[in-house]
Amino acid sequence: MRIVILGAPGSGKGTQATILSERYNIPHISTGDLLRAAVKAKTELGLKAKSVMDAGELVSDELVLGMLRERLQADDVAGGFILDGFPRNLVQAEALDALLAEMEQPVDEAVQIEIDPEVIVGRLAKRAEEEGRSDDTEETVRNRIRVYEEQTAPVVGFYGDQEKLSQVFGVGTVEEVNARIVGVLADR
Ligand code: AP5
Repeated sequence: MRIVILGAPGSGKGTQATILSERYNIPHISTGDLLRAAVKAKTELGLKAKSVMDAGELVSDELVLGMLRERLQADDVAGGFILDGFPRNLVQAEALDALLAEMEQPVDEAVQIEIDPEVIVGRLAKRAEEEGRSDDTEETVRNRIRVYEEQTAPVVGFYGDQEKLSQVFGVGTVEEVNARIVGVLADR
């Protein structure tokens, strides 16, 4: 199964992708996690990405695509994957389609987690206190939401046009949201 999880910052993509990864026994690929690992390891990619991430902007398509292409070539991806945080704009969506067409492994389903921006601000303020993620300051969170609305929201229509889109309400317990996602995937 090849799934793309879409949703605004803090909508629960990472939380849900982790649970789905265990349920379906396929890897969870998060471009945000891959980038944070590169920042931590101070690789060339990480050094380029850090200031962009701290501002809540998108890292360049070229850098992220190169990183993702490499990850999708790993052996563990043969049985499917859950993609979280990618694609982030229409250029990335089209590049992903082309890459997966080459691999003869097209996306099966995109699931959008829908959530109100004020819920996001509250959730990420809590995470900022608990974990201190450097892009969880209120100003950066608001910019991440703006970037999502301008650049990522059109990707929802991209999968809608391909009749691969499901939408679930993202408020409720983690388990409740997960049951909604599992439900829409089972219906396909
Ligand atoms: P990324 O890591 O993808 O961050 P994001 O999209 O802003 O999303 P988050 O990780 O903040 O939230 P999430 O939706 O995964 O929710 P989570 O489960 O964590 O990207 C970070 C940056 O990297 C970007 O700004 C950009 O700079 C760069 N980047 C990444 N991908 C890129 C790409 N493709 N192209 C270019 N640049 C890229 O949950 C959030 C919080 O809510 C947690 O504390 C969680 O415990 C809590 N929570 C989850 N579910 C619930 C629930 N149901 N109820 C209450 N709390 C909940």
